[in-house]
Amino acid sequence: MLASDAAVIEVRGLEKRFGALTAVGDLSFSVHPGEIFGLVGPDGAGKTTTLRMLASVMRPDAGSIVIDGIDVLALPEQAKRHVSYMPQRFGLYEDLTVDENIRFYADLFEVPRQVWQTRADAMLAAADMTRFRGRLAGQLSGGMKQKLGLVCSLVHTPRVLLLDEPTTGVDPLSRREFWQILYSLRSEGVAMLISTAYLDEAERCDRLALLHAGKMMYCDTPAGLKARMPGAMLQIVAADPRRARDAVRDLPGVEGVLLAGSGIHVHVDGAERLPQIAAALAAQGVALISIDAAAPTVEDLFVALLDQESVEAST
Ligand SMILES: Nc1ncnc2c1ncn2[C@@H]1O[C@H](COP(=O)(O)OP(=O)(O)OP(=O)(O)O)[C@@H](O)[C@H]1O
Ligand SMILES: [Mg+2]
Repeated sequence: MLASDAAVIEVRGLEKRFGALTAVGDLSFSVHPGEIFGLVGPDGAGKTTTLRMLASVMRPDAGSIVIDGIDVLALPEQAKRHVSYMPQRFGLYEDLTVDENIRFYADLFEVPRQVWQTRADAMLAAADMTRFRGRLAGQLSGGMKQKLGLVCSLVHTPRVLLLDEPTTGVDPLSRREFWQILYSLRSEGVAMLISTAYLDEAERCDRLALLHAGKMMYCDTPAGLKARMPGAMLQIVAADPRRARDAVRDLPGVEGVLLAGSGIHVHVDGAERLPQIAAALAAQGVALISIDAAAPTVEDLFVALLDQESVEAST
């Protein structure tokens, strides 16, 4: 990662209001070349609004945005040339083929033919889509449409890539391919701002900002955020995870419980609760396959932090 270089995105005091609603309030952050910066937050947190302002498709009410040294509010058209923006619903032409869509976006950005063809060949191969080049975009699956959207966003080489939930609806295998493309861009020094609803994907970002109701609650590396998690996590695997969850919920020291696959993640006030919880579940006849101390996932963390926030807001 080249994140020690000067920031390529500088956002200060950004604000956007819709009537009485503050969709984004006093938001400040910076993103460096070769950094993948994640925007995470529940529906309506302000992720899309933030990305739209950075892409110059929406004007903020206050604050400043500097991209690659260009004042975006003063020179939006100039700034746009350094940015590639993939909106939450990317505009593909359904009655054009995969190749024709790519050519359309390449022409829009005035990319020389040799340049975009080489890039498109490599990205389509990485996305496992070479055999669909002649297929109409309207006949692609949802995940393939998302991947084509990314390829179209990258026919020119941006300094800054803005991606709004690019992998929503994309299957896990394709999401992995998608992230391989992002990693290769990272090594080319592209700065990426990506919103995601998948918290396992948040783990892959270099830094994360947690937005809630338009405000930034936390901003740190995934490891740094986890270090802020108060208490400890226990991982329980049980024959009947739902029953185990219901039984564990009201035990002393339990702050939160999350179903995770065949197990449950229990947030406790301290790791020393483990034997006590194991005994209480055994006393209630809940069969446990295993109970262990565990590292928190980003999902555990966000649930805990947002819970804490809503408790503080209501007191
Ligand atoms: N054009 C608009 N007019 C009025 N309100 C808007 C407009 N765009 C967004 N909002 C509101 O601003 C808030 C933030 O919306 P935004 O789309 O930025 O959230 P988001 O984090 O992208 O959510 P999601 O995860 O659902 O995509 C929401 O309450 C939304 O209803
Ligand atoms: Mg959105």
